Amino acid sequence: GLPSQLAGKRVLVTSGPTHEPIDPVRYIANRSSGKQGHAIAKAARASGADVTLVTGPVALADPFGVKTVHVETAREMLQAVEAALPADIFIAAAAVADWRAADIATEKIKKGANGAPSLALVENPDILATVARRSTGRPALVVGFAAETEKLFDHAQEKLARKSCDIIIANDVGAAAGVLGGDRNEVTLMTKAGKESWPDLNKDEVASRLMTKLAGMLNGARR
Ligand code: C5P
Repeated sequence: GLPSQLAGKRVLVTSGPTHEPIDPVRYIANRSSGKQGHAIAKAARASGADVTLVTGPVALADPFGVKTVHVETAREMLQAVEAALPADIFIAAAAVADWRAADIATEKIKKGANGAPSLALVENPDILATVARRSTGRPALVVGFAAETEKLFDHAQEKLARKSCDIIIANDVGAAAGVLGGDRNEVTLMTKAGKESWPDLNKDEVASRLMTKLAGMLNGARR
């Protein structure tokens, strides 16, 4: 990206996994490292934007110059995102847990004579869809990811429509791709107009190209 292509724009990014508690010592989580989301926040800042990053638990430092809000759960992430709006661009790179425990035990669940406990789950709010469907204050550009292990383009296309986003970034996260936790990513950008595949790139390069793409779309929309 270029240093001033997003000057004066507000960019809001989610990153990392969420942790959904089961009891005081246990939680449900996933393999997201936050590397791609944090790289996007950095690239947005490097493009001159005013950036807020809402991140789940990650082992990464807060990006320099980026207002960083730390959360644990999906519900906390939604709250922090809504508090950070309005924004010109919303990029949902977090791997939000789809489900949380229906009840969080206040004490550690003990091993008992009755065998393994069963865990009832309830659905978490969809942060991306919630933001994309706002009737007032919807960001001009809403970007989501589709991390899939099969039928990548079908699932991504379906998400673009169901979640009302402007761009879905489709990536294959099957074990062979090494994307989760890794430093590289091979993505395909899907919009209503069509799709565009990028080569295998460093996550920083994906982020930087994305800023150029978004700046172009924002300017195009204004003309
Ligand atoms: O449906 P799926 O979880 O695969 O969708 C992925 C996209 O939706 C990502 O952009 C992710 O950040 C976003 N998402 C969200 N809130 C959820 C689930 C997914 O923002 N509860």
